[in-house]
Amino acid sequence: MTQPQSSSTSGSQAWLFFRQWLKNPLSIAALAPSGAQLAGLMTAELPAGASRVIELGAGTGVFTRTMLDNGIAPEQLLVVELNEELYEYLRTQFPTAHVVCGNACDLTSIVAEKEFASAGQVDAIVSGLGLLNMSRDLQLSIMRSAFDVLKPGGCFIQFTYSPKPPLPRELLDELGLSVRRGGFAWRNIPPASVFVFSRNRSEQMRAVRK
Ligand SMILES: C[S@@+](CC[C@H](N)C(=O)[O-])C[C@H]1O[C@@H](n2cnc3c(N)ncnc32)[C@H](O)[C@@H]1O
Repeated sequence: MTQPQSSSTSGSQAWLFFRQWLKNPLSIAALAPSGAQLAGLMTAELPAGASRVIELGAGTGVFTRTMLDNGIAPEQLLVVELNEELYEYLRTQFPTAHVVCGNACDLTSIVAEKEFASAGQVDAIVSGLGLLNMSRDLQLSIMRSAFDVLKPGGCFIQFTYSPKPPLPRELLDELGLSVRRGGFAWRNIPPASVFVFSRNRSEQMRAVRK
C-alpha cells in the first residue's frame, strides 16, 4: 500500500500541478489533478487479471497511486510523463515503478528501450492525456504507438471532460478501434467521463497473426 495522502500533501500537489498549467496550459489541459472518484473509475476499467500496465500523462500520480493500491505491482507499471517537473515529482513518489520523462507518441521505443515489455505484451494503458486538445496527427501517433504495445485484446482507458469520446469516429475507423463508455465522475472538478478503447475483432485477429 502507498501512504495515505495528508491534506498538506494534496495541497502541495495541487500547487505543483497549477504552476505547470500556468507555464503550459495546452499540454497540462486541466487546472487541478483528478479526484479520487475519477481515479477509482479509471482503475475499475482495468481488465481482470491485468498485470502489465502503462500510464500516460500521470501528472502528480493520482491514478498511479490508486493503481498501486489496487494491486498493480510497481515493477509492472510504466509511467510516462512529458513535463520535467512532474516527472521529477513522480520519480520521488514512486521509486519502485518505472517512471520515464517522455512523449506518449514515442511509446513503442520507450517500452523497447526500458525493456519493459515486447511489442504486444501490455494488458492495459491508463491515459490522463488531454487527447481532446491535441492535433489529429498527434492523436493518431499516440494511439498507433499505444496499440502497438498492447496485447490483441488490451484496452486504452481514457477520461475526458466532454460527454463524447475525445477521438473522432473517422480516426477510430482508420485504426480499427471501437469505444465504449465507462463511468461518469460527477464529483470530479470538472465532472469527467471514462471511455475504453479496444481493437475491433478483425483487428484483434490481425494483431494475433503479427
Ligand atoms: C490532464 S493532465 C492529467 C494528469 C493526471 N493524470 C490527473 O488526472 O491528475 C495531463 C498530463 O499529461 C501530460 N502530457 C501532456 N502531453 C503529453 C505527452 N505527449 N506525453 C506524455 N505526457 C503528456 C501533462 O504534462 C499532464 O501531466
